[in-house]
Amino acid sequence: MAFLKPKEDTAAQVDFDRLPRHVAIIMDGNGRWAKRRGLPRTAGHAAGAENFRTIATYCKNIGLDYLTVYAFSTENWKRPLEEVSAIMGLLKKYLLESIEKMERDRIRLHFFGDLSPLPAELREMCGRTDAISQRYDGMQVNVCLNYGGRDELVRAARAFAADCAAGKSTPEQLTEEGLSQYLYSAGVPDPDLVIRPSGELRISNFLLWQSAYAEFYYTDVLWPDFSKEELHKALAAYQSRSRRFGGV
Ligand code: IPE
Ligand code: IPE
Ligand code: MG
Repeated sequence: MAFLKPKEDTAAQVDFDRLPRHVAIIMDGNGRWAKRRGLPRTAGHAAGAENFRTIATYCKNIGLDYLTVYAFSTENWKRPLEEVSAIMGLLKKYLLESIEKMERDRIRLHFFGDLSPLPAELREMCGRTDAISQRYDGMQVNVCLNYGGRDELVRAARAFAADCAAGKSTPEQLTEEGLSQYLYSAGVPDPDLVIRPSGELRISNFLLWQSAYAEFYYTDVLWPDFSKEELHKALAAYQSRSRRFGGV
């Protein structure tokens, strides 16, 4: 009989009673995943969207409170129109399916980013999903759509300045906690763990303010291949770290 190497039991490395409260993922590597298979980049985005569904469901099942994913950045408009349209189409398809399943999954879907330049139909669906989510109390999934960390901070600064001009606040009153309330993430705890697949060692304008003290986990695995086992590895790595927050 052939010797079968036992599958690595990555779940055994994770302490499920000590999970991070908030995990954030830069879903990168779809294009390269497709290229390696001789497929168009859009096929990679479809595979990435499918994997998002798998990972989000798993995160819910293990009891994570918050999952934030980077789906489309303020810089991604630089891509060919055809690719951008394909991504928008996939988002629409995904949201439509999610709306049907929300009752069962009880996942709260929220969106971080400026939705105004998105196709009207997609925008309308985001609004509908947001509204349905109000009824649930399950895991919160934040989908970053036309999101940029710098853009978010500029908007916060503008909104605060407008409040000052309207006499609702003064510059001296602004605190870190106060500024947080002007961000898309108002009310959401900071991410504990930020995961970036695909081998790039950069932040690409993701959650700049919120990840001030996050733990980072990078892997060469491409997003469509980022399985539960890969997530276990990331969680185990997170749990092996000592978070000092500037203390000793
Ligand atoms: C991430 O995959 C998806 C988006 C940025 C929308 P990429 O499309 O960036 O994949 P690579 O980095 O080219 O492999
Ligand atoms: C970051 O990936 C944005 C998303 C995953 C949505 P990119 O592929 O756009 O990042 P860069 O261009 O490699 O920095
Ligand atoms: Mg990329």
